[in-house]
Amino acid sequence: MKVGTRHYRTIWLNEDGWSVDLIDQRWLPHEFRIENVRTVEGIATAIRDMWVRGAPLIGVTAAYGVAIRMREDPSDAALDDVWERLHATRPTAINLRWALDEMRNRLRPLPEKERAAAAYRLAAEIADEDVELNRAIGRHGLEIIRQIAARKKPGEPVNILTHCNAGWLATVDYGTATAPIYLAMEENIPVHVYVDETRPRNQGAHLTSWEMAGHGVPHTLIVDNAGGHLMQHGMVDMVIVGTDRTTATGDVCNKIGTYLKALAARDNGVPFYVALPSPTIDWTVRDGVKEIPIEERSADEVSYVWGRTADGKVTQVRILPDATPAANPAFDVTPARLVTGLITERGIAEASEDGLLKLFPERAKA
Ligand code: MRU
Repeated sequence: MKVGTRHYRTIWLNEDGWSVDLIDQRWLPHEFRIENVRTVEGIATAIRDMWVRGAPLIGVTAAYGVAIRMREDPSDAALDDVWERLHATRPTAINLRWALDEMRNRLRPLPEKERAAAAYRLAAEIADEDVELNRAIGRHGLEIIRQIAARKKPGEPVNILTHCNAGWLATVDYGTATAPIYLAMEENIPVHVYVDETRPRNQGAHLTSWEMAGHGVPHTLIVDNAGGHLMQHGMVDMVIVGTDRTTATGDVCNKIGTYLKALAARDNGVPFYVALPSPTIDWTVRDGVKEIPIEERSADEVSYVWGRTADGKVTQVRILPDATPAANPAFDVTPARLVTGLITERGIAEASEDGLLKLFPERAKA
């Protein structure tokens, strides 16, 4: 997407042809920084410390990490080792394992001398595929926005609430939850987005707001607990969020707080949609609450808040007593029964095993 006058993806191959450039998201919205990453350790740090984040982007970054390793050492042992090292960086988003499996399964049969070139080709393919999947999600999601817009008075915006950042910064380009919103803007359908701030790391305040502002999308930042109140007052027409892992039965794991939005949406008759590319479906898991590993991140993310001071310095401040401990589960699971529909690249599925298998029949067990 555009930043100023230039089009950027979130990650790309450096002009040297082997290292990787990426947007370091830790500094947004205050500074737009690009980092050059040249080692597997650097890739692992970028994922673990959230220079890049968002399920699809984590997967693509890991794929480039495999390519960097294959350039140094294309052996089977190195392939297994890089799989393990990168898989250990973040536990919840399934796209990480999906991308690492794709890379290993497709590189393993090749002679060692062909692996490095093939790995770079494959990583680029996974990145390009992500962009295509998001465009398709956008087209299907746009249909829902069109239908809601058709019931509104002329000029009245469709009010959409979103949580965390499932925008272009969370993917290679376009985003999942945001792709339909950008397409609606292109069609001149009036939209307005309520952006949950998304404590503790504030991906909504820092990243989604930056995206919305940068692309001229009317939006309002709200605190995480405001959504239920807005829904009770008829101020939200639909919710769209992304997901880090969706089960074969349609349970949706996403950023902590998503579940509470789904409960409020159900209580108020507001449709609750989840946008996801198929690599985010974990076909091996049936019960999201019991089986999906929830990342527990550092208590510092809860205890300190990042921001920019009046004199322009980006810094962090502690917001609780030194003696108070904090817990930081980073994701939660919304049961399928609370989800109105799953917006995939193949269309909108009912959030159930049957619904998903109708769109992905090749996944049915014989
Ligand atoms: O911890 P993060 O910032 O990686 O969490 C991101 C989210 O929860 C997104 O909603 C999810 O990855 C979907 S991104 C298209």
